[in-house]
Amino acid sequence: IKKLAVLTSGGDSPGMNAAIRSVVRTCAYHNIECFGVYRGYEGLIEGDFSPMDARSVRGIINKGGTILKSARSKEFRTKEGRQKAFDKLVEAEIDSLVVIGGDGSFTGALIFNQEFGFPVMGIPGTIDNDIVGTSHTLGFDTALNTVVDAIDKIRDTASSHNRLFFIEVMGRDVGHIALNAGIAGGAEEILIPEEDLGLDRLVESLNRSKKSGKTSSIVIVAEGDKIGKNIFQLKDYIDENMEGYDVRVSVLGHMQRGGPPSCFDRVLASRMGVKAVESLLEGQTNYMVGLINGKMELTPLDNAIKGKTKINLELLRVSDIMST
Ligand code: F6P
Repeated sequence: IKKLAVLTSGGDSPGMNAAIRSVVRTCAYHNIECFGVYRGYEGLIEGDFSPMDARSVRGIINKGGTILKSARSKEFRTKEGRQKAFDKLVEAEIDSLVVIGGDGSFTGALIFNQEFGFPVMGIPGTIDNDIVGTSHTLGFDTALNTVVDAIDKIRDTASSHNRLFFIEVMGRDVGHIALNAGIAGGAEEILIPEEDLGLDRLVESLNRSKKSGKTSSIVIVAEGDKIGKNIFQLKDYIDENMEGYDVRVSVLGHMQRGGPPSCFDRVLASRMGVKAVESLLEGQTNYMVGLINGKMELTPLDNAIKGKTKINLELLRVSDIMST
């Protein structure tokens, strides 16, 4: 390969900048020309890309967000949109593409490859950790630290006022953020989509902890939880059905996607960028790079998209034991 383009797509995540830096510098190291594409597939369709050299990515390893900006492109979902993107790449003589994003972005990359035979490589960037083929997606670790920090702060005020807090965390359809941050934040209960505890169990657990002398409690609710009530309805339910609880709700929201990446995410991003470029250089295509048993490995994009991540059952058990 001689000319490579890199883009960030879908919801941003801390560590994307560190990954861009790594891709650009690995290209410089191997004498490959590198182009940064702005606003994900939107920019690809419009030909909105410019050359990036090793110095153009200075001072970004510690920055959240993405300097290339991100978008969820509707036009790239159409054949016409993808044709325009292909034409722009051919015009610029670009011969390979690194996509930093989640499963939606990888689906686009795979279809693009199938239609035009264009070499693509994925770097999993999302706080949700919902991609098969890596134990950690980029940004997951940072988001966990952000959430734990928020739980610690809420706990201070919860215990001062003897209150019960429901805290909603992101994660789309999966509960990885909720489960891990919940354990680290000492949550009373953790409601995740993978395990429907049911309202009775929640009430039972809160009653039990009250009897055991707890004066305040934290319940973590994954945004994709399937208990059948949203977090505000949960509060109403407890207000109506349990005595002596002063309940508050806190939805953490998009603050979970921002902030400087953790050390773990910076190292992971650096490793993933090197692996992505060097794999393309070796002629590999349609793969995603990932961390498996501590090593950088490739997983076919198809498997990464179609597979479903599993919740760690041992963590569930630990969480149960910790709330006794
Ligand atoms: O996929 C990352 C994520 O932050 C999810 O956790 C969340 O459900 C979604 O993106 C929010 O998307 P938006 O930024 O479009 O509101």
